[in-house]
Amino acid sequence: MSRDPQICIIGGGSVGSVLAYFLHRGGIREIPVYYASRESVIEVESQGGVVVIEKKSGAEYLVPIKPRHYSQPVDQCVFVLNAVKAIDVPRSLELTSKITREDGVVIMLQNGFGSLELAEEKLAWLKVACGVVYFASERVSRARVIYYGGDALLVGCRRRPCGELLVLAEIFKRGGLDFRVVDNIDHYRWIKLAFNSVVNPLTAITRSRNEIVLEEEGVKLAEMIIREVCEAARLHGYNLDPTRLIKHIFKMLEDSRENYSSMVQDILAGRNTEIDYINGFIARTLGERGLVNTVLTLLVKLIEKSRGRGVKG
Ligand SMILES: NC(=O)c1ccc[n+]([C@@H]2O[C@H](COP(=O)([O-])OP(=O)(O)OC[C@H]3O[C@@H](n4cnc5c(N)ncnc54)[C@H](OP(=O)(O)O)[C@@H]3O)[C@@H](O)[C@H]2O)c1
Repeated sequence: MSRDPQICIIGGGSVGSVLAYFLHRGGIREIPVYYASRESVIEVESQGGVVVIEKKSGAEYLVPIKPRHYSQPVDQCVFVLNAVKAIDVPRSLELTSKITREDGVVIMLQNGFGSLELAEEKLAWLKVACGVVYFASERVSRARVIYYGGDALLVGCRRRPCGELLVLAEIFKRGGLDFRVVDNIDHYRWIKLAFNSVVNPLTAITRSRNEIVLEEEGVKLAEMIIREVCEAARLHGYNLDPTRLIKHIFKMLEDSRENYSSMVQDILAGRNTEIDYINGFIARTLGERGLVNTVLTLLVKLIEKSRGRGVKG
């Protein structure tokens, strides 16, 4: 019998599938993955797992996960990786509570602010950690995901110590993912929020890869967005240096210039985006002083509403 802890994933999309891939490479053979739709469960079942395609090498891996429907929670997991979109978090928390052991740890992996806070509130008896994802992937069909690269996941708890995460770190590291347990997860959340606040709306509005932000106009907009992010961070008690932050973000952009952000993927697929949790969060924090983030939030929401109403040329 395996001595590895039971690790479950909620959400078998871009992020969930790549995590399953690293877990499998780390030696985990039983990986339950929960889906919202029967269609995803059936497609993964018929294929014998989820296919993860490494963009750089073109290699395809069939990760033999155990697909489950959210309405049938059958596992008792020591670690639950919650990888649904922020918008789906509220309805995923009941499932999360049902499949997490009392001594287990839940890890919330959503971009933006709001999902972790909600999970901490609704699952107060459990240890809830946050994961800041530093890899990029895209779901090309229900059971196929392209993994673009990046191999870090920073994880930490805010309310209670969760040394248990070191066990998970060992497994992921064995599989090739740089899973780092950190004390100051909020610091990394703010940096990732700053990156997403720049890249997501600008790529979504222009329907472009990340590299669009490197254009002169993109740089100017990025500087305006970041100034507001730093102001919002200050109101929450975090001091970020805008000059250093912009430099860091442009380094990240150079490294990911070919990527399609999750927000442009959502717009191109006709789905609603996570704008409310990213620029919308900055706009709500700053009120009238958050003009740039307010405008970007409203623009992206208008684009969401324009679906099917475009002028035919
Ligand atoms: N993609 C990236 O590169 C990336 C990078 C960093 C962070 N993130 C963040 O990671 C989060 C997840 O994004 P993603 O791109 O992986 O999303 P995604 O590809 O759309 O996948 C979401 C998955 O969640 C499932 N789901 C939704 N509601 C559920 C529920 N109530 N119970 C169980 N499963 C449920 C969906 O099931 P069905 O298949 O049945 O629809 C789907 O498999 C987002 O917050 C995103 O911002 C993404």
